[in-house]
Amino acid sequence: MEERRTKEGRMNLTVYIMALVLICRCAGDASSDLAKLHSDFFTWRMSDRPIVATYRDVHKYDDQLEAFTLDMFDVRKRRADELSARLKNITVADLKKSDMINYRILDDQLSTYIAGYPWRMYQYLTPVNFLDGPQHEASYMAENLPFSTRGDFENYIVRLQKMPEKMSQYMTLMRKAIQLNRTNHLVSMNRLKGQFDKLNVSDPTQSVFYLPFNNTLAKSNVPEGDRHGLRQRGSAAVELAVQAYMNLSHFIQQEYLHHTRPNIGISSLDGGLEFYEACIRWYLSVNMTAQEVHDIGLREVDRIVGNMQKIMTKQNFNGSVSEYFNMLRTDPSFTFKSANDILKEYRHQIHDIIQKTLPTMFVNMPDLPIVVRPMSYDGPVGTYSTGAADGSRPGIFWANVFRPNKTVNFTTMVLTLHEAIPGHHLQLSYSMTANTPNFRRKMEYNNLFRPPFAFPEYLSYIEGWALYAESLGEELGVYRDDYELMGRYSFEILRACRLVVDTGMHAMNWSRDEAIQYLRNYTAESLNNIIIEIDRYITLPGQALAYKIGEIKIWELRRKAEEKLGDKFDIREFHSVVLESGTVPLNVLEDLVNDWLDTYPVTTPRPESPICGGTQVMARHVWVVMVILAAVTASRLY
Ligand SMILES: *[C@@H]1O[C@H](CO)[C@@H](O)[C@H](O)[C@H]1NC(C)=O
Ligand SMILES: *[C@@H]1O[C@H](CO)[C@@H](O)[C@H](O)[C@H]1NC(C)=O
Ligand SMILES: *[C@@H]1O[C@H](CO)[C@@H](O)[C@H](O)[C@H]1NC(C)=O
Ligand SMILES: *[C@@H]1O[C@H](CO)[C@@H](O)[C@H](O)[C@H]1NC(C)=O
Ligand SMILES: *[C@@H]1O[C@H](CO)[C@@H](O)[C@H](O)[C@H]1NC(C)=O
Ligand SMILES: *[C@@H]1O[C@H](CO)[C@@H](O)[C@H](O)[C@H]1NC(C)=O
Ligand SMILES: *[C@@H]1O[C@H](CO)[C@@H](O)[C@H](O)[C@H]1NC(C)=O
Ligand SMILES: *[C@@H]1O[C@H](CO)[C@@H](O)[C@H](O)[C@H]1NC(C)=O
Ligand SMILES: *[C@@H]1O[C@H](CO)[C@@H](O)[C@H](O)[C@H]1NC(C)=O
Ligand SMILES: *[C@@H]1O[C@H](CO)[C@@H](O)[C@H](O)[C@H]1NC(C)=O
Ligand SMILES: *[C@@H]1O[C@H](CO)[C@@H](O)[C@H](O)[C@H]1NC(C)=O
Repeated sequence: MEERRTKEGRMNLTVYIMALVLICRCAGDASSDLAKLHSDFFTWRMSDRPIVATYRDVHKYDDQLEAFTLDMFDVRKRRADELSARLKNITVADLKKSDMINYRILDDQLSTYIAGYPWRMYQYLTPVNFLDGPQHEASYMAENLPFSTRGDFENYIVRLQKMPEKMSQYMTLMRKAIQLNRTNHLVSMNRLKGQFDKLNVSDPTQSVFYLPFNNTLAKSNVPEGDRHGLRQRGSAAVELAVQAYMNLSHFIQQEYLHHTRPNIGISSLDGGLEFYEACIRWYLSVNMTAQEVHDIGLREVDRIVGNMQKIMTKQNFNGSVSEYFNMLRTDPSFTFKSANDILKEYRHQIHDIIQKTLPTMFVNMPDLPIVVRPMSYDGPVGTYSTGAADGSRPGIFWANVFRPNKTVNFTTMVLTLHEAIPGHHLQLSYSMTANTPNFRRKMEYNNLFRPPFAFPEYLSYIEGWALYAESLGEELGVYRDDYELMGRYSFEILRACRLVVDTGMHAMNWSRDEAIQYLRNYTAESLNNIIIEIDRYITLPGQALAYKIGEIKIWELRRKAEEKLGDKFDIREFHSVVLESGTVPLNVLEDLVNDWLDTYPVTTPRPESPICGGTQVMARHVWVVMVILAAVTASRLY
């Protein structure tokens, strides 16, 4: 037996080596075709999204703005078709193994975009809502575009001068939306007046657009003699941009608001239900119907309420979930004394509690630094922005410390697990140090009105992982008492409720009040937050489903691996398979796990191997998407 097996083994090995030689010979061609293709793709995307290009350190288009015209829909679709045809021409079997996943992801990028084309004339026609739009971009640009050379300032002035054209393009799109009866609901638009009013200044030097010409210019290396002229021309350009913005605001108030759609549900539009299911596919990167998502939501809410009930019973509390959290929220012994106390607590959790436990579940962890800093504006409870892949700039967990005496102490741990480790910081550290080409490493981000006619960015993987990290906290043993466990469940149930109410409103005729009541019944949120949450779901159909569905998919794959491998299952290996390829869509993640299981233990990640990518030089603005999402967002997009 032994003898024969060995011989067969040798035979197979010989065949294998011969095959390898063959593969290697053509792999060169196929792989270099692919490399050329994804480099063409990346170049096209950057030229098409000039501001994204600037944030990604591609500086060829620094004086340009994106075109928002109807004819561009077809131009872009044709370009995507062309690239897709070239991709289909590559023989997959000829690719190097390491290129397979790049192939899959480029294919997913292009085919998802092309599949979104039929839906271009829906939400895309209204590129402004209370969560996203030029009113939020203004300060973001002023604070985040590079301003060190004279050229940077000149380019910025040219971009400001192009704002009238951009706003006029927006108005044309929005008039088309009115004509087609495909407008947003009032709740997506009625906060805009206040947001635009803040930008309405008569003295241009008081405008946020003018910020770069003040301190930034004073500190730059632009020669002293050039500064005055720049300020003067800057001021004129700012004045023009402000007027253009006010024109748009005026148009929204005087024209668009008279035509907002009467029903909150996107399914009330012609083709709306199909549009919604296309959004679900875009956000989740798996095929699911609204009904399937809704049913999963109901089951999850039930399950989590059961978990909460056990603790409440143990604590002799007789009321409902929302009564329980009301009680804790109004008890001052559960809140913080100062901003500094909050920061100290987060740092303690990361460095003294969670960090130590991670080696039991992870290997090959990229050792990138993380720090906790106070958020400069009163935004969400927490956000995360990535640092540099070489560690020269740390990842940052931004904590909202504006209201210590309203910040409860039992949801800080779950937030740390989500934003910092093993959530966004750890996952994105793997992503940044994975050896991936530009089109994956510097993926474009999307404005929230674009999907599903947009290139996907795999929110269900990124947020699914962070929610999975919240649940790992239990296995890591870092929740210190039942209150913190209740805090964890309160975060989880909000994400489960979203599956119910998002599908409820967009596919099942639920009213806004029903949806509000549902969140009041089952979540720990204040009424004010609940209303903003619900209006967010009305505005962005399907977006909020990504978190829970992504987490469920990761758990499903883990259960499958546990069952298949039995005693041999090693949680550290599983996590390596999920994280080491970088950010991927859920369907590719599923294939990665299946491949690993089918060929176990051959493809198992080797714990002793050093981490890859240590020598890679990374651009500064990679993953600025996380910051942007946070910066443009009035509510808590977590
Ligand atoms: C596909 O490959 C064939 C053969 O090399 C070539 O003639 C054809 O132009 C290619 N098509 C595309 C879309 O690149
Ligand atoms: C839009 O709705 C109006 C009023 O209901 C109707 O008269 C018009 O035909 C609709 N337009 C389109 C393009 O469906
Ligand atoms: C720019 O500086 C001027 C003069 O110091 C000041 O009045 C103005 O408020 C500043 N503008 C902004 C946007 O900070
Ligand atoms: C604002 O709108 C008016 C009227 O449509 C137009 O004449 C003017 O050029 C616009 N101004 C800017 C700065 O876009
Ligand atoms: C901007 O402010 C001016 C002066 O207060 C006002 O006349 C104008 O209507 C405002 N513009 C908009 C669009 O609200
Ligand atoms: C998802 O559904 C669409 C439309 O029914 C179908 O064309 C597509 O192949 C499906 N994709 C997957 C991954 O099942
Ligand atoms: C809890 O509820 C049960 C059943 O409704 C009731 O009998 C009991 O008195 C309640 N206990 C407290 C402490 O309120
Ligand atoms: C939060 O406050 C409560 C009440 O003072 C206390 O019992 C609990 O230990 C605190 N939790 C943490 C994690 O500090
Ligand atoms: C909370 O802090 C604010 C601002 O410091 C203060 O005005 C308010 O009275 C405090 N509330 C409570 C309940 O201590
Ligand atoms: C939603 O309401 C519309 C109009 O009242 C009706 O035609 C449709 O069948 C309803 N859909 C569901 C799922 O109840
Ligand atoms: C909220 O809870 C109440 C009382 O348990 C129940 O009657 C009602 O149906 C619930 N509402 C929703 C929208 O689930």
